[in-house]
Amino acid sequence: MFSRSWAVYASFLFPVAVRAAAQYDLVKEYAGESFFDEWTFYNNIDNLTHGDVNFLGNIDAFHNKLAYTNDAGNAVMRVDNTTQLKFGQKRNSLRLSTKDQFTVGSVWVADLLHVPYGCSVWSAFWSSAPTWPVGGEIDTFEAVNQDPLGHMGLHTNPGCTHSSNAVQSSTLINSTDCSTEANNNQGCIISNPNPASYGQAFANAGGGVYVTEFAIDGISIWFFNRTTLPSSLQGNVSTIDTSTLGIPVANWPADDCQVNEFFQLQEIVFDITLCGDYAGAASVFYQTCTGVCYNDWVLGDPSHYDTAYFEVSYLRVYGQPGELTVLQPSSTRRSAELSCLSMVGAITLATGSLLAIIWAL
Ligand SMILES: *[C@@H]1O[C@H](CO)[C@@H](O)[C@H](O)[C@H]1NC(C)=O
Ligand SMILES: *[C@@H]1O[C@H](CO)[C@@H](O)[C@H](O)[C@H]1NC(C)=O
Ligand SMILES: *[C@@H]1O[C@H](CO)[C@@H](O)[C@H](O)[C@H]1NC(C)=O
Ligand SMILES: *[C@@H]1O[C@H](CO)[C@@H](O)[C@H](O)[C@H]1NC(C)=O
Ligand SMILES: *[C@@H]1O[C@H](CO)[C@@H](O)[C@H](O)[C@H]1NC(C)=O
Repeated sequence: MFSRSWAVYASFLFPVAVRAAAQYDLVKEYAGESFFDEWTFYNNIDNLTHGDVNFLGNIDAFHNKLAYTNDAGNAVMRVDNTTQLKFGQKRNSLRLSTKDQFTVGSVWVADLLHVPYGCSVWSAFWSSAPTWPVGGEIDTFEAVNQDPLGHMGLHTNPGCTHSSNAVQSSTLINSTDCSTEANNNQGCIISNPNPASYGQAFANAGGGVYVTEFAIDGISIWFFNRTTLPSSLQGNVSTIDTSTLGIPVANWPADDCQVNEFFQLQEIVFDITLCGDYAGAASVFYQTCTGVCYNDWVLGDPSHYDTAYFEVSYLRVYGQPGELTVLQPSSTRRSAELSCLSMVGAITLATGSLLAIIWAL
């Protein structure tokens, strides 16, 4: 319903409320046999969300065939579905985060064929600053148990909310305060209204493609299934222009959440936990499942986890031409230097937006 000219006019009146059109170039690809090359495997119990899993290190993950590239060339990340556990044991699973970190002014595109689902399962494809919650978290896909829909959300320090100026197609706004200190850290959640955004329905539809734009003027997420995927995203595209993708399914404009203030460099994460603070909470678990999360599901028949896997065709990261998008923290950069980089990005983008407005007028 929002025409291009309306958007330009609005961005003139409210410079930070509307997404700036932006072109991005491919800077990083995770796909095929090399998909798993540059990730940190958490290699610990789930002391973050208190799920009943052991997140394996990379050697164990490959040895136990929880991480592999399948015959179709897709990356698979799964929960152990072969071991019968004894009381007190936790089930093996995965939590992988990119070794590289990505700046404000980047876009990540993930082509997912299957996402983990089933009772007790809590799966997410998301990003986080290393110093969470300082530096923020962007959840592109998250779902639990047998929920009908996947959802998207942000988690931040207090002061960031979902703006009423958001330009997005989803009307399913679950919560608007992104603060980790509000509503038991629910975050500012928007459900993906596509009936095939999770579970068996997602798999039957052949999955879909998520585009997450982490921009100075706001954070936006698009979701496409195989029939709605625009030609500009088909194949191994080296350049994308988010202004051609239509209205995002979710949008958090910077007017009520200054991206530079609440977000820092992001690491992209895939993880699957079981039960824990969210999927296992009684108020959530009993919405779609029965029994006792740990006793009946985690300790139960391992085949409960036959559907608890990600199958990923690719994850690609795009950055703005001429900007530094990918940082390798192994070269030990510190936050002062990073916020300086963000400012340079901000100034460059602000100048770009201004030129776009002048051109339009
Ligand atoms: C989780 O455990 C690891 C390894 O013991 C530790 O380094 C980390 O600080 C712990 N994190 C939390 C949030 O407890
Ligand atoms: C969000 O709201 C929708 C619609 O009311 C509801 O079906 C869904 O369960 C909610 N999701 C979450 C994560 O709260
Ligand atoms: C793909 O998405 C469109 C638009 O949301 C929807 O009408 C269509 O039914 C979906 N197709 C599948 C196979 O889920
Ligand atoms: C996609 O293109 C990039 C270069 O633009 C290349 O590095 C990469 O290998 C390609 N991926 C595939 C799967 O062909
Ligand atoms: C685990 O699940 C996969 C499907 O995701 C299935 O092919 C495999 O047979 C299962 N393993 C066992 C031991 O049942």
